[in-house]
Amino acid sequence: MSDLGFPLAVLAELTHRCPLQCPYCSNPLALEAASAELTTAEWKSVIAEAAELGALQIHFSGGEPTARRDLEELVAAASEAGLYTNLITAGVLLSRERLAALAEAGLDHVQLSFQDSEATGCDRIGGHRGGFDKKLDCARWTLELGLPLTLNMVVHRQNLEHLPQMLELAERLQARRVEIAHVQYYGWAYLNRAALMPTRQQLDAATAVVEAARERLKGILVIDYVVPDYYARRPKSCMGGWGRQFLNISPAGKVLPCHAAESITSLTFDRIGEKSLREIWQHSPAFEAYRGTAWMPEPCRSCERREIDWGGCRCQAFALTGEAATVDPACALSPMHEAMQALATTESAKDETAFRYRARKAGEALRKVPERIEG
Ligand code: SF4
Ligand code: FES
Repeated sequence: MSDLGFPLAVLAELTHRCPLQCPYCSNPLALEAASAELTTAEWKSVIAEAAELGALQIHFSGGEPTARRDLEELVAAASEAGLYTNLITAGVLLSRERLAALAEAGLDHVQLSFQDSEATGCDRIGGHRGGFDKKLDCARWTLELGLPLTLNMVVHRQNLEHLPQMLELAERLQARRVEIAHVQYYGWAYLNRAALMPTRQQLDAATAVVEAARERLKGILVIDYVVPDYYARRPKSCMGGWGRQFLNISPAGKVLPCHAAESITSLTFDRIGEKSLREIWQHSPAFEAYRGTAWMPEPCRSCERREIDWGGCRCQAFALTGEAATVDPACALSPMHEAMQALATTESAKDETAFRYRARKAGEALRKVPERIEG
């Protein structure tokens, strides 16, 4: 592709290990084992390659990235290479000393997840007792150390009633930014869709709460809002277009165009160590598969939005139809669109509340996934 630039950001999934078990985890259903994780030296080499390739930011993620004892070393390597460093954490493994050491190593930003606005819901949804109080400590330390704080709040049918309190929490913790993100249904979230899907009324009420809070908190708190595709008329520009702005590296070194790309079972992925990161970014078949517009079917191919939303989300198209190179059913022009919305309405009306939690250990048996839709 002639106009291919460099990846703006790299998501380094250092490990799939995590003390939490969120039922909408973005990790793949088949988690990678600790024994397969890249070594410190391998991660440092990837970080250098990413900087050389032109990346501007690196997000240290997981699983829980603080489960890696070498995180300070990796943050220092990224900082020295000139990358903006962001830690995406659940916060429950951190101590003030560790966070101070990370700041000392050059950490630029902390993104802390909350599963709800209060302890009962937060600990139940995350599957980790005592997590909420630890998160409050982590937010306080972040502030004391002078690091900018973003709160990540994933919302769904079972916590949306607390949205006003979530925003109050972000304000009270003096976060600079809060991301209110409706669950996106791939991987574990797809498995738990019937327990998570909000009703249309919940969605509309949430949107009104966010809009009012944006007005009230102008200049104090930035509120990012990610809506659920199942009720949309046009899809989101997922990842800013496949293979255009982001790359994701799995704990064992698989290089992915997006964090959920492994859910597309027809793709295979190049690995760190087998080829250079530049070669993978530019020529890997997985990156080339849906990059640009040449892969698009109609109506995307001749649509005026084709270079705005890039045809939506490949992972969602695959999850719902079994075919990644098809129009995202979130688009009203897709023949599957009505079926997708009907499915959202049906599932949101269920009284299912039990979660199938993310497996604690890598390699646990895969679960039965919900049915696909037919147009
Ligand atoms: Fe986007 Fe394709 Fe729908 Fe056009 S037809 S809005 S490009 S998903
Ligand atoms: Fe993979 Fe949207 S989550 S392309």
